[in-house]
Amino acid sequence: MCGIVAYIGSQQAMPLLLEGLKRLEYRGYDSAGMAVTNEQGQLQITKCQGRVSVLEERLGQGAGLPGTSGIAHTRWATHGRPSDTNAHPHRDDESERGSGIALVHNGIIENYASLRTWLEERGHTFTSETDTEVLVMLISELFDPANGIDLEKAVQAALREVTGAYAIAVVCEHEPDVLVCARKGSPLMIGIGQGEYIVASDPSAIIAHTGQAFALEDYQVARLTRTAFRTSTLDNVCVSPKILNLELELQEIELGEYPHYMLKEIFEQPRSLRNTLRGRLDTIEGRVVLGGLSDFIPNLVRAGRIIMLGQGTALHAAMIGEYLIEDLAKIPTEVEYASEFRYRNPIIEDRTVVIAISQSGETADTIAALQEAKDRGAITLGAVNVVGSSISRMTDAGVYLRVGPEIGVASTKAFLGQVMVLTLISLFIGRRRFLSAETVSQYLRHLETVPDLIERVLEQSDAIRETTARYVDRENWLFLGRGTNYPVAMEGALKLKEISYIHAEGMPAAEMKHGPIALINDGMPAVFVATRNSQYDKVISNMHEVRARGGRIIAVATEGDQDITAHADDTFYVPDLPEALQPLLTTVPLQLMAYHAAVLRGHDVDKPRNLAKSVTVE
Ligand code: AGP
Ligand code: GLU
Repeated sequence: MCGIVAYIGSQQAMPLLLEGLKRLEYRGYDSAGMAVTNEQGQLQITKCQGRVSVLEERLGQGAGLPGTSGIAHTRWATHGRPSDTNAHPHRDDESERGSGIALVHNGIIENYASLRTWLEERGHTFTSETDTEVLVMLISELFDPANGIDLEKAVQAALREVTGAYAIAVVCEHEPDVLVCARKGSPLMIGIGQGEYIVASDPSAIIAHTGQAFALEDYQVARLTRTAFRTSTLDNVCVSPKILNLELELQEIELGEYPHYMLKEIFEQPRSLRNTLRGRLDTIEGRVVLGGLSDFIPNLVRAGRIIMLGQGTALHAAMIGEYLIEDLAKIPTEVEYASEFRYRNPIIEDRTVVIAISQSGETADTIAALQEAKDRGAITLGAVNVVGSSISRMTDAGVYLRVGPEIGVASTKAFLGQVMVLTLISLFIGRRRFLSAETVSQYLRHLETVPDLIERVLEQSDAIRETTARYVDRENWLFLGRGTNYPVAMEGALKLKEISYIHAEGMPAAEMKHGPIALINDGMPAVFVATRNSQYDKVISNMHEVRARGGRIIAVATEGDQDITAHADDTFYVPDLPEALQPLLTTVPLQLMAYHAAVLRGHDVDKPRNLAKSVTVE
């Protein structure tokens, strides 16, 4: 959600900032804008409600914004409705006290109201309803170059006064060759070019310009000129950032021949999972190779309890992980909504291991819950996709998903990557507890076949679209499964909800009898994940219960299962796997159903309404 791009160098800033905003477009937003400093050092601001294309049109109507440094933003409104006035950048008031400062901001300034009152008492005039405008006014109020308080120091002083979350980029007419950035709780990365710096809230807007970058840490400020950078704390103590090699490749974030990123990423899953598995399976010795965990093997093997934290799709992956870890590693495991865990006064005993699951590594609730676990002494692991993201830097150890950048708001390849990584972690620990080399070898040999098996499932995409078309007008669906297929049902419901806007509910198949069966009416679609497993017969009974009340059954079944056709109206087949590994296949038809339903209903698959790719605010 929301996005920042900033630039200082020798190129014209406007086209570069626009291109960066377009790369961040998938993250969800409601307005956009930019400020460019011209050759005379004057700030030129254009901003508006609507998509980046609306901003581009506005810019094209005039001479554009000439200049070689600037800041740009896509807003996901939290304070003040989407409007031209509330769009970013915000600048200080035009009164004689104005210092010509403009700023873009991701996050929330929680104590903005009291600060606004204080600033109004000191004569500042506000024009927007946002919390962000308070921050730029505060910086302006503290800016005092005659007494050595330059832009960098004014930003540091202002940020010492605010509470909340922020990633900001700030420019000033008094210092036209300086760009100041800062962060706390909302990601900001700085790309290091030749005589230029490109700043962005997501590496996908940097990779086109440079592969060298560093991430600001919480409470850090960076002062950039065309030739150098300085990073410091809010108390102006110099710090040295860790330079990263961004692993993205440009073509990974290009759409290619696909109509939507989501479809591209669904069809990428065989390749992305091969990347997840690469170098991590020792099938001969029956071992999983996870170098990132090597320093913590005793902590993992002797863990008394494992807690997994996440939100949304990541939580569903964690729910599958709970079955896997208890089954394969025999360690008591539980899954918590990060947003609940962080406020629940959780119990962390000795030998508790906490695993944070996150594609972006920037989900605010997951970060906060992880910090809570760290403060209480837990050993923490991350299962994260974005290299250098906040969660990947907070945890003691971790395993990257390696599925490549996920642009579609609805998570697909990252989900399977999370499930795969949790499977590997379960086998990694299990082999050091009760699993024999042969048992692990058998699992690893199955895992090696998963990418090819997914290819076979993907071949059913057209058939899945035809089936989906017959139900796409139904406004209420159920998704049901048992065992490791229960979280798959939850994930299938979420996928359908978030991009087709159809109301869908996932639950354990047995739970239906405890109330939800009252929902069943004539023609209501009920999707059953009904592969051959230890509870197959019970799932068939649940299907009868739905059919007896007029529901329509769509089943995901095991290849070769002809019995199921007597109980289901439509069936999609997946190859057989051991029960613990079935989610890696049964998820795929549900992803395709959701995708096709959204397209058939004419929705914007990659930018669904109200959603953001990464929820970096509470
Ligand atoms: C996934 O389809 C959703 N867009 C959303 O639930 C997402 O999984 C959730 O916000 C967690 O994001 P994360 O994995 O980046 O932490
Ligand atoms: N809280 C700020 C606003 O509402 C920034 C929101 C965002 O992160 O885009 O304008």
